[in-house]
Parts: sequence; C-alpha cells; structure tokens
Amino acid sequence: MASTSSLISAASRRLEGKVALITGAASGIGECTAKVFAHHGAKVVIADIQNELGHLVSQSIGQNNCIFVHCDVTDESQIKNDVDKAVETYGKFDIMLNNAGVIDEEKPRIIDNEKANFERVMSVNVTGVFLGIKHAARVMIPAKRGSIITTVSASSYIAGVNSHAYTCSKHAVVGLTKNAAVELGHFGIRVNCLSPYGVATPMAKATLKREGT
Ligand SMILES: NC(=O)c1ccc[n+]([C@@H]2O[C@H](COP(=O)([O-])OP(=O)(O)OC[C@H]3O[C@@H](n4cnc5c(N)ncnc54)[C@H](O)[C@@H]3O)[C@@H](O)[C@H]2O)c1
Repeated sequence: MASTSSLISAASRRLEGKVALITGAASGIGECTAKVFAHHGAKVVIADIQNELGHLVSQSIGQNNCIFVHCDVTDESQIKNDVDKAVETYGKFDIMLNNAGVIDEEKPRIIDNEKANFERVMSVNVTGVFLGIKHAARVMIPAKRGSIITTVSASSYIAGVNSHAYTCSKHAVVGLTKNAAVELGHFGIRVNCLSPYGVATPMAKATLKREGT
C-alpha cells in the first residue's frame, strides 16, 4: 500500500512530464499559473509580448523547466513557431493555456466607443485564442491527446460590468470553446475555459485606478 508521504508527493507533482505553453505568462494570472504548473512538474513555455518580464519569470522558475518565447498572439506565424518550439524543446505538447488578454477603458455609451479600439480587443482576446486553439490542435490531433484551456472572465456571462469590446470578446470565446470542444473531443483533446471574477493583477489594478475605485 502507498505510504502517506508518497501519496502527498504524487499529489504535489500532478503535471509531471507534461509540457505546457501559456500565453500572457509574463504577468498576472499567467505568471502565477506558470509557477504553479512548474511546481507540479510541468515543463513550461512562457509566451508573451513583454520580453523583459517574460525572461524574469522564466529565470525565476529555472531554465531546466522553463523557456521564454516572444509571442504576439495576434500574429499567426508567431503562435505557430512558438508551439513548434515547445515540441522541439521538450519533445511533446500537452497543455495550451490561452491566457493573454487585454481590456480597454470602459465607455458605457456605445456611441463613445471607437472601432479601432474594439478591433484591438477582439484581435487579442478572440483572434489570439482562435490561433492558439488552432495551432495547439495541429500538434495535439496526431498525438490524440491534450488539454486546451482559455482564461475568459465573468464578463463571458455577466453584462454591464466591463466594456462592450471586452464583454463581447469573452462571450465570443465561450462559443469558440464549445465549438472546438465538439470537434476536438473526437481526438481525445479536452477544450475548456475558465471565468475568473476579480484577481488583483496589473490589468485589474489599472482598470480600478482608471475608474477611481
Ligand atoms: N485580473 C482579473 O480580474 C481577470 C478577471 C477575469 C479574466 N481575466 C483574464 O485573465 C487573463 C490574464 O489577465 P491578467 O489579469 O493576468 O492581466 P495582466 O495584464 O497581468 O496579464 C496579461 C498578459 O497578457 C500579455 N499580452 C497582452 N497582449 C498580448 C499579445 N498580443 N500577445 C501575447 N501576450 C499579450 C501581457 O503582456 C500580460 O503579460 C486575461 O485574458 C484577462 O482577460 C482577468
């Protein structure tokens, strides 16, 4: 029978041997998740546009278990290359966490909202997730396994709290997740999203500061 200490040790290394790519992992929820994944034994690829912070997070985790790659999730060639880099470095690909996201200033009246700003939020929060799911699926389908997770938000089901663009983007990703789950489930790939409410990250703090709360 397994001893208590071996059971505790197994529970604390729940991602042993797994390879995960996390977008937006230079800061906030992504950074914290990267550290937790590594603590549980995963090899982690940190993908972000913030090179300096990304390198610091990677160093803090330790270069045996983690690499940083520059990645703008709106650029398909970058996502494609970064997924390939994960496979090249660690020999497999198990977990894709589409976490990168942006939020814009809330302007409650739609007539005050700019098209360019709306498109910027949709580009990172929706197109970026579409590309992440697509390129994770590209390497997971032949392996017939994998888990794709996206950080959405309580704004994926609550209205009137965040901006039109942000709320729209997070609702859209729930639909994309469901559609991808129906397709990729046939290949043994799980596709899920999670919806945090308020987490005190640089993004959330900047939003609260703008709103004077
Ligand atoms: N903090 C909250 O209260 C909260 C609540 C619900 C959902 N979320 C979601 O959680 C996710 C992480 O947010 P956070 O709060 O940790 O914010 P954060 O600003 O600390 O982290 C977001 C990260 O995404 C990166 N990023 C932005 N644009 C990018 C791009 N084009 N390509 C690659 N990386 C890019 C940023 O550089 C940053 O490191 C987001 O999707 C956000 O919408 C946050």
